[in-house]
Amino acid sequence: MKRAFLDKLLPRLRRVQPEDVEAFFVELAHDRRFFETIFNAIREGVIVTDVVGSVVYLNTAACSLFGLDAASALGRPLAEKISGLRWKELAQGREAVTRDIEIFHPVHRVLNFYVVPLMSGDEEASDKLRHAGYALIMRDFTDRHRAAQETLESERAAALQLLAAGVAHEIGNPLNSLNIHLQLLERRLKKLPEGPSEKLLQPLEVARDEIKRLDTIVSQFLHALRPVPLNRTFRDLNALTREACGFLEPELKSRGINLRLELSPGLPPLEVDQDQLKQAFFNIVKNACEAMKQGGVLSIHTEADARWVNIAFTDTGAGMSDETMARIFEPYFTTKEAGSGLGLMITQRIVRSHGGEIAIEKPSAGGLRIMIRLPRHDRQAHMLPPGPPPLPALHPPSAQS
Ligand SMILES: Nc1ncnc2c1ncn2[C@@H]1O[C@H](COP(=O)(O)OP(=O)(O)O)[C@@H](O)[C@H]1O
Ligand SMILES: [Mg+2]
Repeated sequence: MKRAFLDKLLPRLRRVQPEDVEAFFVELAHDRRFFETIFNAIREGVIVTDVVGSVVYLNTAACSLFGLDAASALGRPLAEKISGLRWKELAQGREAVTRDIEIFHPVHRVLNFYVVPLMSGDEEASDKLRHAGYALIMRDFTDRHRAAQETLESERAAALQLLAAGVAHEIGNPLNSLNIHLQLLERRLKKLPEGPSEKLLQPLEVARDEIKRLDTIVSQFLHALRPVPLNRTFRDLNALTREACGFLEPELKSRGINLRLELSPGLPPLEVDQDQLKQAFFNIVKNACEAMKQGGVLSIHTEADARWVNIAFTDTGAGMSDETMARIFEPYFTTKEAGSGLGLMITQRIVRSHGGEIAIEKPSAGGLRIMIRLPRHDRQAHMLPPGPPPLPALHPPSAQS
């Protein structure tokens, strides 16, 4: 409409009266206010940029999604205002792009970005000349993302809990009763004359030790499977590392293992369940001790980057084959005679429940390195891998069924 008006206006420009020009600008200003009101009323964030990604316009929803104020964002590169945003992945020339992006400031959200190139000017001109910038439309997918995640987790947890309850009952009870009967047997044996009872007491003790071991395995199993809610407090990762190693100091010493702590100062405090995290570190250090029978070095390195606090445990032990490496997080996978095969599974569960990740690698010098990263609570935005186009808006549940 405006273009047609201009087409008519331009050839007659010399003949136009000042009041016509004024009326035109009044109408323009009115239109601008009209569209601004609409854009500010919608829930979707809208940002318009020029070709290189500097902000030309942003609506109220965009400001609140990213914690920006319009005045300071206008004219600035969008990637500077939303830290972690990889502009080049969104600005694909003539292609419309859709990406899910996880942001952490001012609150943790998952947003879908729909980025459309804006074309203007003479339709005869080349696309390059017509390309005026991009319009970005952002939808908040946090609830849907979280709901999908929670459904998956709760289905898994329910199945495992059922299994755990079954095991507790099926194995725990007979174990208890076995223990009581062995105690009775022991008491009666002790009343017998010394000679024959001596011979029987020794295998009895072995049997009781084995029951104790079974009991530990069962309780570890239950511990591994029962979802334990996180009791979070702000803690320093370096302090937790020292505390976890403290428990194993006698074992490290007796095996002639040299502990090297390379703990970066000034790590941001993490909101973690300190007992569970200490348990996770303990399991790793314990494994390292067991892998260095002839002594060696265990180095623990901590550092922080923009998104994570990282901790790496490197030992100079026997290392492992690729087949073992592929299986170490499996429940009950162990290469040890008296191993439970649950240590690393529990460790992985604890790390994941903190939103972290765990990885293993074989250093070229031999031994094993276990790396854990835990999310900083003040993280920057982070691009999710490209996915399918966004789904159409959800209907209320009643309308769907
Ligand atoms: N630091 C390590 N060096 C070599 N092998 C390791 C190390 N840590 C774990 N492993 C391997 O992973 C397996 C599983 O470990 P884990 O889950 O703690 O169970 P467990 O210690 O009871 O065997 C171990 O049996 C061992 O083969
Ligand atoms: Mg272990």
